[in-house]
Amino acid sequence: MVSLLRKDLSVRMAPKVYKNLIGGEWVETRSKRTHENTNPADTRDVIGVFPHSDASDVEAAVAAAKKAFESWRLVPAPKRADVLFRAARIMEERKEQYAKDMTREMGKVLKETRGDVQEAIDTLYFMAGEGRRLYGFTTPSELPNKAAMAVRMPVGVCGMITPWNFPMAIPSWKLLPAIVCGNTCVIKPAEDTPLSTLNLVQSLIEAGLPKGVINIVFGSGKDVGTPIVQHPDVRAISFTGSSEVGRLIGTMAAEQYKPCSLEMGGKNAIIVLDDANIDLTVDGVLWGAFGTTGQRCTATSRVIATKKVYEQLADKVAARAKKLKIGSGLDESVDVGPQINRSQVETTETYVGIGKKEGAKVLIGGNRLAAGGYKHGFFYEPTVFVGVKNNMRIAQEEIFGPVVSMIQADSLEQAIDYSNSVVYGLSTAIYTKDINKAYRAMRDLYAGITYVNAPTIGAEAHLPFGGVKATGNGHREGGWEVYEFYSETKVCYVDYSGRLQRAQMDTYDV
Ligand code: UN1
Repeated sequence: MVSLLRKDLSVRMAPKVYKNLIGGEWVETRSKRTHENTNPADTRDVIGVFPHSDASDVEAAVAAAKKAFESWRLVPAPKRADVLFRAARIMEERKEQYAKDMTREMGKVLKETRGDVQEAIDTLYFMAGEGRRLYGFTTPSELPNKAAMAVRMPVGVCGMITPWNFPMAIPSWKLLPAIVCGNTCVIKPAEDTPLSTLNLVQSLIEAGLPKGVINIVFGSGKDVGTPIVQHPDVRAISFTGSSEVGRLIGTMAAEQYKPCSLEMGGKNAIIVLDDANIDLTVDGVLWGAFGTTGQRCTATSRVIATKKVYEQLADKVAARAKKLKIGSGLDESVDVGPQINRSQVETTETYVGIGKKEGAKVLIGGNRLAAGGYKHGFFYEPTVFVGVKNNMRIAQEEIFGPVVSMIQADSLEQAIDYSNSVVYGLSTAIYTKDINKAYRAMRDLYAGITYVNAPTIGAEAHLPFGGVKATGNGHREGGWEVYEFYSETKVCYVDYSGRLQRAQMDTYDV
């Protein structure tokens, strides 16, 4: 049962041509090259034509950001934050339109894109509130008549490279704390989802964001991302995407001593113990594994269940997965949208092939949908593998598609060992009614997030987000901790004694 794209006018009208945002002006790319933004549910639907920029556009954007920094850093933080409060209200009014734009370019279903827009609104309000805190601290000096304090200083121009799976929420996690701290930004949104980032920034502009504080350069990682990372005037880099690309970016940034925040892959597991509430667990597995068509870095990619529940759980998950309706996310009755592009759906196909070869069994799904109404999109059936051994590639590697691998474990200890055995460490979950076991899991799962009786997805804007090992490099987004990244600590000593005082010496000489 496929739900086809509605025959709205936009399908037939010439697509809108978009430009880069540099110094507050919409400007054509100097490269003169463009790129079509198409709907992954039906690629005949062209949402817009976006610039395919190059290093010279980055040069202009960095210069504009550098210039804007001179004045923006001096605007009091509560005033900077006022722009965010106003933008939040604008976004609330446009939530539905922005969600529709996002579903059209990204594919995930409307209820999820509404959630993505809401996550950006939540981040706007939370970060705006921080404008009246941005706490430093004071502490006594060891010397008389001397004051000592630590304050926050903006970093300068920040470069951001963002993914397509949360095309509004993730840019908001980066842009908003950066500008509240007094930085200016150059952002490169994912090529597959440029419009949603533009919509967020458009709201900020209408809310009064001064020219040049945020600059957008559209294009590829190679032609735009690399020049941003390597530009000497860009003083900090924030990236969300694959661990492979993150490693390259981190290495490039290190060469110029740049702070660099990396949010990367995941291979997140739900642990299910024998005493779990099975129906609640089934709901969680379905939502965690097939929500966003499995394309979250927090997606539930593994279910590690103890013996007594394993089979029953697998059967119930399969029965429910079978009923999920696949189609265009613009159709409210659809549960699972397309994957983002051809390469992503091919990766899913490849991994399903690998899983079968490794000896795992496809309990449900396992096929690409490419006939009939699915012909022009990138659809893949929700897929459940059973009989998966922990050392199989489908149990260890990130797939980023609607595939979940079910692994059996003998005990809580073994389940935790399995969960920790992957190279990533983003999100984890446990379903149990035993509070002792829940606490042991919270202590022993080596990951940035652990959920109890909830799936691996669903992080909230005011808590820190990020992971360990190949998932991250020690930073967190969201919550208060993100301010550590977007500000430098500056210590100020004020000596009002009127004489030379020598620390570590004078007070000990008397
Ligand atoms: C991501 O998958 O890249 O916790 C981010 C969640 C969302 C964010 C996911 N709030 O699933």
